[in-house]
Amino acid sequence: AKEGVSAEPTSRHYYNPSCQNPDVTCVRKDSSAKKLITGAIMSNDFLQQLEASHVRRMVDCMYERVYTQSQLVIQEGAAGNHLYVLAEGLLDVIQNSRLLGQMHPGTAFGELAILYNCKRTATVKAVKDSKIWVLDRQVFQNIMMSSAQAQHQEYFSFLRSVSLLKDLPEEKLSKIVDCLEVDFYDKGDYIIREGEEGNTFFIIAKGQVCVTQAVEGSQEPQEIKKLGVGDYFGEKALISEDVRSANIIADEDDTQCLVIDRDTFNQMVGTYQELQTYLREYVFQLALNDHDRRNARKKS
Ligand code: CMP
Repeated sequence: AKEGVSAEPTSRHYYNPSCQNPDVTCVRKDSSAKKLITGAIMSNDFLQQLEASHVRRMVDCMYERVYTQSQLVIQEGAAGNHLYVLAEGLLDVIQNSRLLGQMHPGTAFGELAILYNCKRTATVKAVKDSKIWVLDRQVFQNIMMSSAQAQHQEYFSFLRSVSLLKDLPEEKLSKIVDCLEVDFYDKGDYIIREGEEGNTFFIIAKGQVCVTQAVEGSQEPQEIKKLGVGDYFGEKALISEDVRSANIIADEDDTQCLVIDRDTFNQMVGTYQELQTYLREYVFQLALNDHDRRNARKKS
């Protein structure tokens, strides 16, 4: 059975250059329409767990359809191709010829078949002329997919700006993005403890950390330096099994680190021996520079 019989208002479709996602067609709507759709999605038990960025794009891409009195919007048992939000009017929800309830403006519906890939669980019929916002299933799926791609791109660009990774070939950097996790810390949290075994590498994505180290003649570890966004630590753990040489303590609330653990890294990227060689050389070069600096300081 086909859903609805109104022709799609294709003339209302146009590309909105402010839409962040080139794969989906945005449809201009005023702020009260956006508010109504967002509210409907957020108060639907099954849709409210979607990420805010997904919801925003769904809102952007919904287009309007008018259903006349007695017209079917959804037919029970049919395949589902759209997700809906009622803007104006009144709808009956019917299952096995039994009236289950009515839907009023500000209600999202038709989510079950779209989310769970099942047949329509109920029939939805216009009690009176109704204006309904519609999202095509394919667009919904594109939004979910492209958000993941956008996130990937965001991390990719960020990692490209990290000095350690700036010359890495594209496909390797992309592999690293695939095995990243994000960890959150509050001020004072220990991210790394000196002397412990370590198998994770961190890049600071937000906030600041403090590096401290035990020194002879002092009970308390001493602060060596602070690190900020784009700085990294624990890189030695990716190439060897050294114990941690310093403490790393979050210096701000909501400090965020991109984390890669050695096993995941080895599984995903480690087959590329040149990458490990690259990292090893980088760390070695850093140590040499450090050594040179210290020598220069001694001489002067
Ligand atoms: P879906 O199964 O995709 O299509 C029919 C829609 O009707 C369903 O998603 C829900 O959005 C809605 N629906 C199903 N059962 C009920 C119910 N008992 N009360 C209100 N709405 C319902």
